[in-house]
Amino acid sequence: MSMNYCIVTYGCQMNLHESEKIAGVLRSVGYEKEVPQEEADIIVFNTCCIREHAENHAFGNIGALKKLKKQKKGLIIAVGGCMAQEQGKAQFLKQKFPFIDIIFGTHNIFELASLIERKKSEKRVVSLYDDRKEIEDGASPCRTSYPNAWVNITYGCNNFCTYCIVPYVRGREKSRSADLILEEVRALVAKGYKEITLLGQNVNSYRDGDVDFPELLDRVASVEGKFRVRFMTSHPKDFSEKLIAVIKKHDKILNLLHLPAQSGSSRILRLMNRRYTREEYLAKVRRFKEEIPGAEVTTDLIVAFPTETEEEFEETLSLVKEADFSSAFMFVYSPRTGTKAAEMAGRVDAETARSRITRLIAAVNENTRRKSEALVGQTVEVLCEDYDEKRGLYLGREPLGRMGYFACDRDRIGEFVTIKVTKANGVSLYGEICERA
Ligand code: SAH
Ligand code: SF4
Ligand code: F3S
Repeated sequence: MSMNYCIVTYGCQMNLHESEKIAGVLRSVGYEKEVPQEEADIIVFNTCCIREHAENHAFGNIGALKKLKKQKKGLIIAVGGCMAQEQGKAQFLKQKFPFIDIIFGTHNIFELASLIERKKSEKRVVSLYDDRKEIEDGASPCRTSYPNAWVNITYGCNNFCTYCIVPYVRGREKSRSADLILEEVRALVAKGYKEITLLGQNVNSYRDGDVDFPELLDRVASVEGKFRVRFMTSHPKDFSEKLIAVIKKHDKILNLLHLPAQSGSSRILRLMNRRYTREEYLAKVRRFKEEIPGAEVTTDLIVAFPTETEEEFEETLSLVKEADFSSAFMFVYSPRTGTKAAEMAGRVDAETARSRITRLIAAVNENTRRKSEALVGQTVEVLCEDYDEKRGLYLGREPLGRMGYFACDRDRIGEFVTIKVTKANGVSLYGEICERA
């Protein structure tokens, strides 16, 4: 009888890509395909702990499996990802959910096969990351995101923004070898992938010998073939003129920069340990847009960081206008145990936080709407990535990140399609195919 798996993923693109690696490992030991939870022989939770909400979500879903685990003999439940790495969390998980079979850290994915083997003779297996170990590489991911492919360039983070738990759960920053990255990109392009997204918590601090991030990006974009190159995330403090020059040089590199600002107030930025001021941030955005006309910037913003005043929040609101973000991920500050900010006095009350996030979302949505509407009547090239059954339309992203929907009577997934935009709604565009002569 065949053995199948289910992977439940929370968190960022880093985690989505790691779930592809987990699937690769599971397939290498005989699990055949991804199925719904009730049909799976192993269920893996790839968790996130960036905010409290992300953790609670995972707890709820893991807890809900108690019954299934009782009913189905031999079912393996494994919990990995950032939450598993949190100080004391493995212990907590063991106590709260005694039916968990395997707990593994973010750097232990490649051990998963041996952990499953060990589970046959042990009650429970735990393997967590130890920063002294080198990053292990070489798992063949079972990719699920065609025509896009994620490629790790760095692991971990050294920045210690005071609100953030990532450096604690993912360890110190390590760069992968440039040769390995280029080999992976070439193989992906040869296989027909049309969009390569380079991943790191701060891609700008990449370094392998003489190769820094702009150099790596230049080499990646110089690989033959028609494909797009994206990268995330860029820390503003390391975003350089050299990088702007490389983006400008290559048509393949999208003119869309995700540059998390976090706050528009220099005082809050200092408390966050971001190492740039509002003015420095805006100067970088200005330089990028000056050099690359038509380029867009997206961002991440946090409201209600400890001690944030109404005036300081309004500086974040005005940053949205001044930097003219085309969209943003926006969060209410969530204290994470072990981080510096969690110890700070001056917590902002929940009601104020809710009011601030609502106002911020409205400001960003206004930018998004205005920019999308400006595209009505224009043509854009989308990379078709899926078919939406409900709408009966194909969809794909245009170069500046908006989703374009269009009707077509044949499968276009994986193709670049030019559409004329007829309608815009938030980050969604609707259009008609204009076939080139
Ligand atoms: N390495 C990336 C992204 C890290 S996590 C970067 O530096 O930009 C993604 C986003 O989650 C962050 O940019 C930040 O806006 C948000 N975030 C991180 N910790 C948070 C916390 N404790 N509360 C609220 N938002 C948080
Ligand atoms: Fe977290 Fe800051 Fe590192 Fe991003 S750069 S992962 S926000 S510590
Ligand atoms: Fe990503 Fe969440 Fe970990 S945002 S790095 S999965 S804590």
